[in-house]
Amino acid sequence: MRSAELDEFVERVNERTDIYSVVSRYVQLNQRGGRYWGCCPFHNEKTASFSVSTDKGLFYCFGCGAGGNVFKFLSLIENITYFEAVKLQAQRLGIELPKKKSSPEQERRRREERTLVKLNEEAQEFYHESLINTARGSVGRKYLEGRGITKETIETFRIGLAPEEWDSLLKKFTRQGYTPQQLETVGLIVKRKNSVGYYDRFRERVMIPICDVFGHVVGFGGRILTAETEATPKYLNTPETVLFNKRNLLFGLDKSNRAISSAGVAIVVEGYMDAISLFSAGIKNVVATLGTAFTPEHVKLILRYARKIIFCYDSDEAGQRATIRALPIVQQAGADVFIIKIPDGKDPDEFIRKHGKEAFEELIKNASTWIDYRIRHILANTEHSTAQGKIRALREILPIIVSADNRVTGDEYCKKIAAELVLDERLVIDEYRKALKQATKSEPIAAKRTKANDDEDLRIRMASEEILRMAWHETDTLDYVLTVLPKEIFNSCHKEIISWLETCAAQERRPDKISAAEELSEEANAELSRILLNGADELGKREIAIFEESIDILRQIVLMKEYYKLSAQAEKYIPNDETTYNKTVKEFLKIKEKVDNLKGNL
Ligand code: CTP
Ligand code: MN
Repeated sequence: MRSAELDEFVERVNERTDIYSVVSRYVQLNQRGGRYWGCCPFHNEKTASFSVSTDKGLFYCFGCGAGGNVFKFLSLIENITYFEAVKLQAQRLGIELPKKKSSPEQERRRREERTLVKLNEEAQEFYHESLINTARGSVGRKYLEGRGITKETIETFRIGLAPEEWDSLLKKFTRQGYTPQQLETVGLIVKRKNSVGYYDRFRERVMIPICDVFGHVVGFGGRILTAETEATPKYLNTPETVLFNKRNLLFGLDKSNRAISSAGVAIVVEGYMDAISLFSAGIKNVVATLGTAFTPEHVKLILRYARKIIFCYDSDEAGQRATIRALPIVQQAGADVFIIKIPDGKDPDEFIRKHGKEAFEELIKNASTWIDYRIRHILANTEHSTAQGKIRALREILPIIVSADNRVTGDEYCKKIAAELVLDERLVIDEYRKALKQATKSEPIAAKRTKANDDEDLRIRMASEEILRMAWHETDTLDYVLTVLPKEIFNSCHKEIISWLETCAAQERRPDKISAAEELSEEANAELSRILLNGADELGKREIAIFEESIDILRQIVLMKEYYKLSAQAEKYIPNDETTYNKTVKEFLKIKEKVDNLKGNL
């Protein structure tokens, strides 16, 4: 498919392209010795070995050997073919693509599409005129004014009003020569169900035109002027048409793409009104989805302009759930993702009208990373004041850190979580390492088995620590602990600490850190310090509750172990020794009852 025309096109794009401005969109570059240097985006490095020469129009990485011209760079970083890179750059520069020779059928379809776009654009003007230039438009003008939408914004977004009649658009446009089929194809009119003819889809609604990235009007969102009811939804949108596909469209992108490109980041909001509001307040790098989930197509669209995406959905539960669902999609596409949670007010529109542009810019500056966001989301939605709750929260959080795939930040996160959950740092890091290993294990069954064991080990360890901490402060409690729990349940290090505390209690002396250092093994002493560093200095109601809960957790584990042992034994007695069998069954049923009673308390 090479042709002179194509060669000439590539040459034209190349001539107008400055490799520095293309590369610096992705890589931070510094000038040194007639060249630019930065950290290579194609391999992991901390010192800059990636260089760009603007004179030669080339890049080269001395670390990994990647190199080439600007289109090669684009194709590598965008993961597209060389020619797609040329096209992408042409699009960014506003250079028109050479026209391909097309079949008569393709030609006909393109003509038809152009007509439909033109029809939409005329409809946009019809609605816009009805809003600003007619007496009946005053309901719409009042509504928009009431929401703080200025005349200027109405102009920028070509906002309009659909008149209340059932056929004003239908009449006007058929008079102009459009056929009802064409009007129906773009979704402007609807066929009557029980009689012949059509009626206008949009009536008495504020009309928000929706454009593709080139600014062609492809559909509309129509908002009612009053409160929504079951019969009349808040928004009525253009149905899926040849031009209008919600998966591929982002509201506002035609106006915001330049701002997104120069800021290096796109802010994604949920509602038309949020996008309109932010844009008019001067936050111009904003787009909105069209009331549907965020799709891989959406990410691709944004990635053409920036690598960084900030989600700023409504702060209600639906908005937060939608955020959580969008995150993996963005990550799979390799974009950097951040999240803003609106602190005050339901949505970005409300927030910026209440607090202004600077306050919103502050939110942007403090946007959370996706890991932080998800961890915070879990912490906000789990009960984690008890040992049991902490384990549950940790179990949910660890896979997130593991999926971040970075040991260094992984350890950092473990520290944060340990602080947040008031857990021992090393314990969290240990668990994280285990989870990391698990994630890379290939045999699922073996992994499951060790996971079950690990779970139990972790539960025992956590509960033991709480008990030891209590025993340190109140050695008398040891008596109670050892009547309800066998010493064997504790690990060897904890056993050593317990024996030592028992000795202290027997000698009627308070255990202290100096004698611990002298009398305990190095390992047990370190473990004890760790346990004590972690907890409260004073005993309060909370500590006592945690202590009691920890005892229950261990009792449950002990009972369950016994229960499994007995049930295995009982199986063996079945064929020949009925009395022993019955005795064993009775015993383990008793245990089961105890476990069930305990479970009720947990
Ligand atoms: N939406 C829709 N149909 C509805 C409700 C919502 O298509 N019946 C879509 C619209 O794209 C809307 C988005 O979901 O913009 C978010 O909904 P919402 O937050 O309710 O809308 P806002 O744009 O915030 O509108 P407003 O401020 O007028 O309530
Ligand atoms: Mn909203």
